[in-house]
Amino acid sequence: MDTVTSGNKISIQGVTKTFSGKRGTVTALKDLSMDVEDGEFLVIVGASGCGKTTLLNLVAGFDTPTQGNIILDGQPVTGITPECGMIFQQYALFPWKTVQENVEFGMKMKRMPHAERLERAAKFIDIVGLNGFEKSYPHHLSGGMKQRVSIARSLANNPKVMLLDEPFAALDAMTRQVLQEQLVRIYEKHRKTIIFITHSIDEALLLSSRIMVMTARPGRIAQEIINDLPHPRNADVQLSSRYMELKRTIWDSVQAEVMKSMEVEAG
Ligand SMILES: Nc1ncnc2c1ncn2[C@@H]1O[C@H](COP(=O)(O)OP(=O)(O)OP(=O)(O)O)[C@@H](O)[C@H]1O
Ligand SMILES: [Mg+2]
Repeated sequence: MDTVTSGNKISIQGVTKTFSGKRGTVTALKDLSMDVEDGEFLVIVGASGCGKTTLLNLVAGFDTPTQGNIILDGQPVTGITPECGMIFQQYALFPWKTVQENVEFGMKMKRMPHAERLERAAKFIDIVGLNGFEKSYPHHLSGGMKQRVSIARSLANNPKVMLLDEPFAALDAMTRQVLQEQLVRIYEKHRKTIIFITHSIDEALLLSSRIMVMTARPGRIAQEIINDLPHPRNADVQLSSRYMELKRTIWDSVQAEVMKSMEVEAG
């Protein structure tokens, strides 16, 4: 099948994903198309079960579309791509490895020389503020610290694209805010292309350059919002009328889709 190349980092072209199980076939995504530009911070919001994780899994190459194509840097994604770093809601660290060993893992797999590996691990442990915890094991760390280890591990691999699936959902509000600010700083410094999933409209408005609202299952794009809020998105910005206006727009859009998904479930 011909693939259309473009100047985009990621191009999702007419993607449908169905799952077949005992209770029949579920169409998680249907004919979904969208592009993500290089260096963009895209946030996806949408009702539970609308196919957000499914979409990230396809971009990461963990799974393949039933129909359509996912293009990364002009090439179709056909398997797991080291260019994509995935960060999950549950931290997915190796419990038997220390912070240092967890951060080194991907670099070790790539057979990076020992000295370089140590230097990069130290650099990214420092960036996420975990100095002094290099020898600690995950069970000695708080949730927020574990998530910082997974962010450091991902960054150390130098992925072109970071895929984050509700990474801060399990954290308390204070820790969440600290990590959001840290992620913004990392994004501004390293300019990765980011796709970030959240259920929080405030988080979406704080982080994104663009927001996509997905429809109820089967997931497609319901609405696209360019987030033109100025940086830094401090308390003044969060109390501005533009913020309220954007929040309202997204809220209405998500709400409409949640209602539809409930009707689907009930019917
Ligand atoms: N491996 C699978 N096998 C069968 N069905 C699946 C599989 N993965 C996802 N689904 C179904 O596909 C639909 C979309 O799931 P997905 O996890 O992508 O939703 P989501 O938008 O990430 O939801 P949430 O916000 O709750 O995380 C759901 O109906 C789910 O049950
Ligand atoms: Mg999900």
